[in-house]
Parts: sequence; C-alpha cells; structure tokens
Amino acid sequence: MDSFVEEVLLEHKDIVDICNRLGKELTADYQDKRPILVGLLKGSIPFLAELIKHIKCDLEIDFMQASSYEGTKSKGTVMVLKDLITPVIGRHLLIVEDIVDTGFTLQEVMNLLQDRGAASIEVVTLLDKPAGRKVDVTPKYIGKTIPNKFVIGFGLDYNEIYRNLDYVGVLKESVYKK
Ligand code: XMP
Ligand code: MG
Repeated sequence: MDSFVEEVLLEHKDIVDICNRLGKELTADYQDKRPILVGLLKGSIPFLAELIKHIKCDLEIDFMQASSYEGTKSKGTVMVLKDLITPVIGRHLLIVEDIVDTGFTLQEVMNLLQDRGAASIEVVTLLDKPAGRKVDVTPKYIGKTIPNKFVIGFGLDYNEIYRNLDYVGVLKESVYKK
C-alpha cells in the first residue's frame, strides 16, 4: 500500500465491477434516449472513462467545471468555470460525479441545467458520503457509500495530486495535518 494511504476503500477491480453494474442499469434505463453524460471536471474523468465502456446504448459526453462557494450572501452559488458545448434543451442528462459530499455543487448544477430545459436530469456518482450532506440531493446511481473521511485516487485529489491512482483510498491525516 502507498505510504500516504490509511486504508484502501476500492481496489481497481472493485471500481471496474461497480462500473459494470452501473453500466447495466444505465443501459436498461437509457435505451433509445441518447443521454448526454455530463462529466463534472476534473474528478469525474477516470470514472466517466471507465463507466462509458459498460453502457451499451447510444450516448454523448460533455464536460462542465463548476465551483460552489459559500460567501455571506452567495452560499451554495455555483460558478461555472467551463460550460457545456452541447445545448441541453429537451435532452436527457446524466451528471457524472466522483463524489457527492455536501451536495452543494450538484444541487446548483442541477438547478442550472433544469432552467435550461433539460428533459430529465439524474446523477451517477462513484462515491457517496451521506454523512457530509448539507442539502437534500440524492444521486440515483451510486457506486459505493463511504464514511465521512477524506479520500483520494481515481480522479479525487488532495491539492491536485493523487488523481492518477487506479484505486480509491483514505488519505492519512499526517499528510494534511502537518
Ligand atoms: P460537494 O460538497 O459540493 O462537493 O458535494 C463535491 C466535490 O467536493 C470534492 N470532495 C472531495 N474531494 N476527497 C476529494 O478528493 C474527498 O473526500 C472529497 N469530498 C468532496 C470533490 O471535488 C467533489 O466533486
Ligand atoms: Mg468533483
């Protein structure tokens, strides 16, 4: 195990198994709907790349980068740093997330896309951390529910590093509490 990791939560083979299971569900649910998978940058990239290999129907992909911030008045407001290229009016959207924690990012992105007239919006997330939730959002498709710990790998970062790990692990506190 890598020295900065406290515990491995998902080995690479577990992630592939999860994508296989979710892929089957999504194939059944999105047959003939030609969904747009909306990857939220940057953390969703490895998950989206694995997941789409297991979805056996026509689909499109596009990307968005959003950052939610909590100012005195702007709590939960999302800043769109990179927007979608594809028009979403009348389209079935599947937001792809690495992890849902407070839910702020997701709630705001969902509201924004709803306002643009999407036909449907659902969420698929590799990880769900329900103990961190501050707003009422529930992803329809969940890879694994995890405890309230800071995790890294397979897209998830600490100060932009560790995204390239092929597994998901809990980061040792000694790494960030120096
Ligand atoms: P919210 O709180 O809006 O945040 O649901 C979702 C985004 O916050 C990041 N996040 C994490 N990143 N390890 C990470 O590397 C974590 O344990 C973690 N929890 C939240 C992530 O970018 C996610 O999309
Ligand atoms: Mg993210």
